[in-house]
Amino acid sequence: MKYTLITGASQGMGLEMARECASLGRNILLISLPKENLKVLSENIADKFNVQTDFYEIDLTKDKSAEEIHNWVKKKNYSIDFLINNAGFGGFGAFEEYTLAYVEKMIDLNIKATTRMTHYFIPELKKNSPSFILNNASMIANFPCPYKSVYAASKVYVKYFTEALRVELESFGISVSLLQPGATPTNDVVKNQIQKGGFMARVSVTEAHKVARKAVRNTLKGRPVIIPGWKNRMSLRFLKVLPYSLLQIAILRSYKSMQKN
Ligand SMILES: NC(=O)c1ccc[n+]([C@@H]2O[C@H](COP(=O)([O-])OP(=O)(O)OC[C@H]3O[C@@H](n4cnc5c(N)ncnc54)[C@H](OP(=O)(O)O)[C@@H]3O)[C@@H](O)[C@H]2O)c1
Repeated sequence: MKYTLITGASQGMGLEMARECASLGRNILLISLPKENLKVLSENIADKFNVQTDFYEIDLTKDKSAEEIHNWVKKKNYSIDFLINNAGFGGFGAFEEYTLAYVEKMIDLNIKATTRMTHYFIPELKKNSPSFILNNASMIANFPCPYKSVYAASKVYVKYFTEALRVELESFGISVSLLQPGATPTNDVVKNQIQKGGFMARVSVTEAHKVARKAVRNTLKGRPVIIPGWKNRMSLRFLKVLPYSLLQIAILRSYKSMQKN
């Protein structure tokens, strides 16, 4: 029986993507940090959508976590045909004010965990082709972003990694898609940033369930890049032709507005 494996599935976009996959009849494996109610979420999804579900609680910033998840999947004899690398987090503030531990954790989760999970599961995905990988980056991966410096840079990695892998894996029947959401009101930190972030942040808001629907369905259609929300697609076109000096002014304004509020 085939399964979709989703990281960061306890809340936000990850949970919505789990629900969306289940609504399409896909069996689900949910991965998240311990003590996040995954057992209940997993059972609720199974009951509501009449699919098979299971869960594994682990801190993905740990070096061996991807290997551990892979071993668990093998032991349980689950076949994976869809991997969703969704877990990630971002901060907001001057780089020098972050502790190095915080920055390293962001790199461990956003970059290393995505890379390791992909590496461990490619052989499995090849075996179960046609299969899919969806990597969650961000709209922010399109330009350097002062005061979100490491987060934006980590998502640039995810973007380039995904786009390159798509070419490498195409001939093996694995379709690799890149998700680039704009502001999505999920956790309290993001909601707070959206509220305080001024026009730039608010214009692109899309609800998590809408992002998830678009992300899952378009990945299964084999689309290379998924940008949920017409406002995001429009603003991205605009931002790409805007001189970076002007974009910087807009970002700095947004930052000042967040600091003031
Ligand atoms: N929200 C936005 O505006 C936005 C925009 C663009 C891109 N994104 C990207 O979209 C993805 C999902 O974001 P979201 O807003 O839905 O986030 P969220 O609501 O904060 O959920 C993040 C998920 O990742 C899990 N997670 C966090 N750290 C983990 C760790 N060390 N090990 C295992 N799991 C961990 C969380 O588990 P816990 O429940 O234990 O915290 C949670 O399930 C991220 O990659 C983010 O960068 C978000």
